[in-house]
Amino acid sequence: MGAEVVIEGLTKSFGRQTIWRDVTLTLPPGEVSVMLGPSGTGKSVFLKSMIGLLKPERGTCVINGVDIVRCSEHKLYETRKLFGVLFQDGALFGSMTLYDNVAFPLREHTKKSETEIRRIVLEKLEMTGLAGADKKLPGEISGGMRKRAGLARALVLDPEIILVDEPDSGLDPVRTTYISQLFLDVNAQSDATFLIVTHNINLARTVPDNLGMLFRKELVMFGPREVLLTSEEPVVKQFLNGRMDGPIGMSEEKDSATIAAERAMFEAGHHAGGVEEIEGIPAQMQPAPGMPTRQGAIRRKDRVMQILHTLPPAAQEGIIESLSPAEQAHYGVDPLPADIGRHSSTTLDGATAYQPSRGDL
Ligand SMILES: Nc1ncnc2c1ncn2[C@@H]1O[C@H](COP(=O)(O)OP(=O)(O)OP(=O)(O)O)[C@@H](O)[C@H]1O
Ligand SMILES: [Mg+2]
Repeated sequence: MGAEVVIEGLTKSFGRQTIWRDVTLTLPPGEVSVMLGPSGTGKSVFLKSMIGLLKPERGTCVINGVDIVRCSEHKLYETRKLFGVLFQDGALFGSMTLYDNVAFPLREHTKKSETEIRRIVLEKLEMTGLAGADKKLPGEISGGMRKRAGLARALVLDPEIILVDEPDSGLDPVRTTYISQLFLDVNAQSDATFLIVTHNINLARTVPDNLGMLFRKELVMFGPREVLLTSEEPVVKQFLNGRMDGPIGMSEEKDSATIAAERAMFEAGHHAGGVEEIEGIPAQMQPAPGMPTRQGAIRRKDRVMQILHTLPPAAQEGIIESLSPAEQAHYGVDPLPADIGRHSSTTLDGATAYQPSRGDL
């Protein structure tokens, strides 16, 4: 089983600039989670804090009993071996071929023979659509290829925890969906715990078990995907529909006067952008046929059903609808009448009701 990551009260600043404060969430073992948030809200800083590259001032991040924030260098080195990380910029070594880049963690952390390393490296390159590109240098390939090479390297040690920072940036929509499929297939095979940072709304809607969002220096929400996908919270709705109409602005967050002025403009007919207003919960992507069943998905079902009563009504409804009749009978739940809960809202304060660290996840 993948490792559980328990984060409590994490606060990170650079000098006098607080990036985020009091972030509390649990990544359930073997489940796939996605973190959303406008540019600059500290998503990459969050991932770097989880692997101890950055040191938050307060709070804990505990993996297998080790607090990454305050442990010794030796423990940190050991615990880092559990992670596979795809950094936002790919972080490839520019003077090494893709082959050597992907082989690097194996040579650094294992005693495997070059024959075995070759087998693994070629397998991961093939998985990420890079077969035949092994002799290229990072400077000689496209941005999307660099991203996939970074992913191949992140997967090479069969990590228990996989962190990926914007896997879709630089990828076309079809490649992005293939990468999404790859994540679910890797998760089915390895039961690794995933945290994916992305701006890609298709991925966010269809891949993860859990969804979270950072905004205004705080974790707005983190919980089962159905909670965020049915949320009426303006910042969440704006983000999921990619519109200008809402609290998120071009540079910083808008103040209320700007929001009101813009609202008048949109009501007068100016296009707020975005293609369509998507409501409701699209089906989650599944591992490809022939892959093992995702153990994380099975555990999640039990976990979510235990906290069902704490979730907003619209999320409850979506979760119950996603169960088969046999599962509904097993958990003793009935589908709700269509008009109950559909327009319920989730407030910022309400969000904390299903924060995992409260002991209910
Ligand atoms: N090493 C650092 N020193 C000082 N400030 C930093 C450092 N790293 C990040 N920051 C600041 O922290 C804030 C959050 O940065 P971060 O890269 O985490 O944003 P992000 O949410 O990942 O954005 P994007 O979606 O654009 O990748 C930014 O204001 C950035 O300038
Ligand atoms: Mg980032």
